[in-house]
Amino acid sequence: MKKIGIYYGTSSGNTEEAAQLIAQKLGVASEDIHDIYKSKVSPLDYEVLLLGSSSTGAGDMQDDWETFLESLQKLDLTGKKVGLFSCGDAATFSDTFCGAMGKIYEGLKGTGCTFIGADVSTDGYTFDDSEAVVNDVFVGLPLDPDNESDLTESRIDAWLEKIKTEI
Ligand SMILES: Cc1cc2nc3c(=O)[nH]c(=O)nc-3n(C[C@H](O)[C@H](O)[C@H](O)COP(=O)(O)O)c2cc1C
Repeated sequence: MKKIGIYYGTSSGNTEEAAQLIAQKLGVASEDIHDIYKSKVSPLDYEVLLLGSSSTGAGDMQDDWETFLESLQKLDLTGKKVGLFSCGDAATFSDTFCGAMGKIYEGLKGTGCTFIGADVSTDGYTFDDSEAVVNDVFVGLPLDPDNESDLTESRIDAWLEKIKTEI
């Protein structure tokens, strides 16, 4: 298995919980799970990066992500595989569901990375609009712990099955 690093930004803990669950299922050690607010470990230490953000404002990235995205954009991520996951709220923010994930996807396009798990079907999600939908699919894994926490684990399982074949 390639070396996997998980980086997340969270405001109330939901994305952290998702990161922990993803790590547990992939067998990623706790020292390889990083809260971007305080982590000093370089993403270049990893071959695979799983990056998580919740959305705030109107489809904006979680607050710590502005700085983290800028630091990622300065790196050459050629050869790195990058998977995105995101916590949002499709009921209250139906027009901007998981918008942060779309912004991160766009922001990383110039880094040379290869996206994995970037063709998640919108089937089973109820929302009006999302920047995270490109060519009719989500560019990563959207989760909605506020309204559909019962679906979180099965959504993660399905996504991990997909990315395991792409790593
Ligand atoms: C002020 C505010 C704005 C939000 N805006 C969005 C949004 O635009 N799109 C969305 O999908 N969720 C939005 N949310 C919902 C959060 O992204 C969601 O509750 C998420 O699970 C929080 O994860 P966290 O605890 O990791 O930060 C917003 C929440 C708050 C409090």
